[in-house]
Amino acid sequence: MSETITFTWKDRTIELPVVEGTEGEKAIDISKLRKETGLITMDPGFVNTGCCKSAITFMDGERGILRYRGYPIEQLAEESSFREVAYLLINGELPTRKQITRFSVLLNDHSLVHEDMRQFFGSFPMQSHPMGILSSMVNALKSFYPYLAGTREEINTTVTRLISKVRTLAAMSYKISKGHTVVYPRPDLSYCENFLNMMFDSPVRPYKMDHDVVNALSVFLILHADHEQNCSTSAVRIVGSGRVNLYASISAGIAALWGPLHGGANQAVIEMLEKIDRRELTINDAVKKSKDKNDPFRLMGFGHRVYKTYDPRAKIMKKVCDRLLDKLHINDPLLDIAQTLEDIALNDDYFISHNLYPNVDFYSGIVLRAIGIPTNMFTVMFAIGRLPGWIAQWKESMEDPEWKLNRPRQIYTGPVKRDYIPLENR
Ligand code: CMC
Repeated sequence: MSETITFTWKDRTIELPVVEGTEGEKAIDISKLRKETGLITMDPGFVNTGCCKSAITFMDGERGILRYRGYPIEQLAEESSFREVAYLLINGELPTRKQITRFSVLLNDHSLVHEDMRQFFGSFPMQSHPMGILSSMVNALKSFYPYLAGTREEINTTVTRLISKVRTLAAMSYKISKGHTVVYPRPDLSYCENFLNMMFDSPVRPYKMDHDVVNALSVFLILHADHEQNCSTSAVRIVGSGRVNLYASISAGIAALWGPLHGGANQAVIEMLEKIDRRELTINDAVKKSKDKNDPFRLMGFGHRVYKTYDPRAKIMKKVCDRLLDKLHINDPLLDIAQTLEDIALNDDYFISHNLYPNVDFYSGIVLRAIGIPTNMFTVMFAIGRLPGWIAQWKESMEDPEWKLNRPRQIYTGPVKRDYIPLENR
């Protein structure tokens, strides 16, 4: 017998079913609430609202757990590759050898972008943020590759095309912003190797591939690959719910990710650490300002809507950071600042009582700096990582038998009905 909750309001009493997930988390199904009582619910920021059932990612914010399709993030980061994780998220199961080979062939086949797209890059003003450019370019893919999906095979092609081309577009935008020759993808390189080569190879200085750098990039992308119903994923689902095409939905996700409270935090963390390094801000002042309710400043890279303990991705990222800097013999002063900041914050009553711990963005920027990625490309790196998650969530919503156009309601607080006043009487 499934559980229900009895809801009484005025003379109406209704039974609301309780929905239970495979990990035991529960929700009240209020889909009949308005019809039966005339009431809606209010939940600013959707802090208590589940918008779908999903079989992709499980998070437990109290225990610091993250799993993709049931597999712990720690195991995937240690043993898998980004390509394999992308396949897992989108298709639900780890690929067989034959399946991953086929996926790699497709990623290679679709890695070039239409040459006409190169002209777009030249039309953006010099200071354009790469996230704005990426969002526009992904939206433009629909015009260049208009035929999207019909059969399962066609959907797979569109999905693979997108994963492959986003990486090429990101590297291209970097090269063009520097006024350098574009480097094309190579069939002999892996997904991550290809990205690094397209970013850093030059006719006068061939890029020397370092296994540890490739591995650090792969782990970075795996850690970002999905995070259930976060802001950008919700944007992808909401836009997609109007039955818009995959490219436009992902373009909306990229735009949503850009903000400093979400994906843009990785750039904001480094900018904060650099300010401290330049002595424009002290560590103690940063902590003090972040606790002051009259100051909008927040300690970037700290806090999370779901995690009320150490973000499991941040733990892995910190290890990757230490390993990479050690291997490359890099002594980054920002790492020392970050570690001191973390120690102070973790022992501060405000941060303890508010359950504020480092999130994935706290150490990721230092890893990206060590790889050679410029700061304004950090959030683009997050977007490349999050892409398989967005695609998996978009596909799941398209196949959901309970699918509905996403359309929240509101409580109107504006003026009540009043009559129009002609201009001469105002
Ligand atoms: N520094 C200082 N105080 C903070 C911080 C912070 N980074 N984060 C939250 N708080 C305080 C906040 O002032 C509030 O205090 P009070 O209850 O006394 O008014 C309390 O903690 C709850 O904050 P909230 O804004 O209601 O919580 P939220 O769940 O809406 O915010 C967050 C989550 C990530 C937007 C927020 O923690 C934040 O702004 N962090 C800094 C930006 C950041 O690092 N973002 C990356 C998130 S992880 C990457 C991703 O998945 O997008």
